[in-house]
Amino acid sequence: MAPPQHVARPIASHSMSRTIVIREHEREAVAEAARMLLEGRLVAIPTETVYGLAADATNGLAVASIFEAKGRPRFNPLICHMSDLAMAEAHVDFDPLSLRLARAFWPGPLTLVLPVKPTSPIHALTRAGLATVGVRVPVGIAAKVIAHLGRPLAAPSANRSGRISPTRASHVAEDLGDRVALILDGGLCAVGLESTIVKLDDGVPYLLRPGGLSAQAIETVLGTPLVRTAAGATIEAPGMMASHYAPDAAVRLNVSRVEPEDVLINFGGQTIAGAEVALAVLELSSSGNLAEAAAQLFDLMIQADRLKPRALAFAPVPMEGLGEAINDRLARAAAPKA
Ligand code: TXA
Ligand code: MG
Repeated sequence: MAPPQHVARPIASHSMSRTIVIREHEREAVAEAARMLLEGRLVAIPTETVYGLAADATNGLAVASIFEAKGRPRFNPLICHMSDLAMAEAHVDFDPLSLRLARAFWPGPLTLVLPVKPTSPIHALTRAGLATVGVRVPVGIAAKVIAHLGRPLAAPSANRSGRISPTRASHVAEDLGDRVALILDGGLCAVGLESTIVKLDDGVPYLLRPGGLSAQAIETVLGTPLVRTAAGATIEAPGMMASHYAPDAAVRLNVSRVEPEDVLINFGGQTIAGAEVALAVLELSSSGNLAEAAAQLFDLMIQADRLKPRALAFAPVPMEGLGEAINDRLARAAAPKA
């Protein structure tokens, strides 16, 4: 297990962000956005669909701050944006039909859910711990920023959870202006609807989310109808999520005492009775930083499970901010296996 690559530091200050108008300053916009993303900061970037709240998809802390800024109560898997098909091929495996769709519609408003390569540095938090990742190649400035950065960008729509997706820079400034380092203003988004999400499963194409590319256009290229599922059903169904998260070991939450042969997963260096008899003690964040804890969660769970403990014993994590999403994930991990 590799050590965490990114050192914890305070979450970005809440001062108002800077806006760069792309039409007038494109080169500066690209360079400045890439520089901030490399530092682990959030940048709002226009795509042809909606404005994205972008972070370096390989930086767990940066991705955690997306959830924090959006106030998302749960860690949904995020779409990874690539500069082109070649970059996507370095991170995910394409089946023949997915490749046909990518060639037909990229760059454009189509997201393909594909198996992540074991060598890909896309962070587990970006994938919400899944073995697949949603990828797409956006049109315009976003692809230029990604090419300049040389890493994929995780980017949900740049709005607070529950609000309408932004299609102008001013929407982002009103909603998240105090949470992003930089807003690139590319005017009105051409499509204005999130991308269409498709997943090929054993050659069967599923429409996971209708969006900016019509199902008919996709069906024409595939030559077969898309199988409709309830929006996001394949990832939202609690049973499926639970099974993705469930470690082999039992999971106990909010422990005040550790039993022998448990691995204690602590938060903020709390004093937990019996810690000295634990198989190992791991820390989600010794400084009590919830973004760091979110970024570490999936990796530490896997690491702890490999030790074959009797149980993973989690110290309490507060329910504030990202703690809500962390506790939601923990509850799923602790749920009885289907
Ligand atoms: O148009 C768009 O797609 C916008 C712009 C900014 O590009 N982005 C966007 O991203 O809507 P996001 O991260 O909000 O989309 C997340 C959704 C999840 O809720 C889920 O429906 C799907 O993408 N998704 C992502 N990864 C998945 C996976 N591994 N399996 C199934 N669904 C996945
Ligand atoms: Mg959204």
